[in-house]
Amino acid sequence: MKRKKIFKLLQTEAPIDKLLIQGWVRTRRDSKGFSFIEVNDGSCLKNLQVVANESLDNYSEIKKLTTGSAVAIHGKLVESKGGGQEWEIQAENIEIVDLAPESYPLQKKRHSDEFLRTIAHLRPRTNKYGATFRIRSEISYAIHKFFRDRGFRYIHTPIITGSDCEGAGELFKVTALDLDHLPKKDDRTDFQQDFFGKEANLTVSGQLSAEMFALALGDVYTFGPTFRAENSNTRRHAAEFWMVEPEMAFCDNDGNMDLGEELVKYLTTYALEECGDDIELFAKWVDKNLMATLENTATSEYIRLPYREAVKILMKSGQMFEYEVDFGKDLQTEHERYLTELYFKKPVIVYDYPNVIKPFYMRINDDQETVAAMDVLVPNIGEIIGGSQREERLEILEARMDEMGMDKAPYWWYLDARRYGSVPHSGFGLGFERLLMLITGINNIRDVIPFPRTPSSIEF
Ligand code: 4AD
Ligand code: MG
Repeated sequence: MKRKKIFKLLQTEAPIDKLLIQGWVRTRRDSKGFSFIEVNDGSCLKNLQVVANESLDNYSEIKKLTTGSAVAIHGKLVESKGGGQEWEIQAENIEIVDLAPESYPLQKKRHSDEFLRTIAHLRPRTNKYGATFRIRSEISYAIHKFFRDRGFRYIHTPIITGSDCEGAGELFKVTALDLDHLPKKDDRTDFQQDFFGKEANLTVSGQLSAEMFALALGDVYTFGPTFRAENSNTRRHAAEFWMVEPEMAFCDNDGNMDLGEELVKYLTTYALEECGDDIELFAKWVDKNLMATLENTATSEYIRLPYREAVKILMKSGQMFEYEVDFGKDLQTEHERYLTELYFKKPVIVYDYPNVIKPFYMRINDDQETVAAMDVLVPNIGEIIGGSQREERLEILEARMDEMGMDKAPYWWYLDARRYGSVPHSGFGLGFERLLMLITGINNIRDVIPFPRTPSSIEF
């Protein structure tokens, strides 16, 4: 007996004897002497048609099979006589593993995304979410392949940390203290009595750790979960999201932009080439322009635009923006989308942002007012990558931290990297969910994460 996944069977040739297929019933249709069962095993978008002949022992049970029921089918793969599919299974035995009751919520063909979020534990069984999470898996693999093929090493950076990389204060605290009986010292919580003997939080970025490893192993990357307690309920922010963070020694911000562009192109190309059926579903049902957007992202040369120039273009745009544009103010999604969707009509890399809106670690430019930062902006989403060349000069870095009122003591190890064999180095963070939004055309981040965490929402 050969236990097979449907996606493998569809790549082979009939006939094949003595097969075992395990999956869930999508639909059943009876005709004279036969029952036709559409079975999906989650391995691909396509169902396999199973033909049950009335001569089967449990035929009367088979005719009661409901949508969502689990089945194990022994049989033979043969060429299909009916239209619509190439192969079908002639069942020799159908074991009903579990009969789903009529209350199974996924009866009707289409449900709203909002409804499906309320049953996030069942939604991967729908075509759309099955496709989403298969793509998520494929693209994760592609990320590792991209870096491995280029000699980058994969580093597991800590999830619990004592430092705030971005300095934006959006930290989830990690504590083992009894919140109803906090130990006090000078009227403040005494974290010396906490698990780590000091304050700890969930990481907002693996960057600072990745930098230490870049200065040892050369080119490295991290790919893992990051956490931000931003209270912004937007369609592109989650409290828990995954970030891909490469870090390269002996690399300036130009090399950094080159890598960012190469990575986004590689991953969109990979999706087009390797996730065909699943991508087609999105192009058909979710975003009619998806193929054009993906082709454009995969093949066009990205615009490289200094922040100063971006501000000029936005000021001259004649658009009614909600947020004001001015040198020293951060670009908002509406500005990013104007640049990528209306003005240039392709991805744009904005670089050399004002230092006042960027974190302490970015390398200050000779003009003393901008830093060697770079953001990759794409149509429909806006910022998908944020990165920079890092300040490798000890005195300048220390001065910047002082200026920002930071306590340097906890960063002694970070500063050490500038004491011993410091070199120019650069890196960035690619928001994995935002990339998946780009690839699928799904317009809410909640729908590309298995169990999303957003303000006031942690069901499942
Ligand atoms: O621009 P950010 O904040 O950069 C960093 O954290 C750097 N330390 C990365 C580095 O240089 N190693 O975040 C990087 C990317 C953003 O461009 C965005 O795509 C994504 O992470 N991102 C979020 N995605 C979902 N939900 C959120 N709340 C996000 N915040 C950032
Ligand atoms: Mg950013």
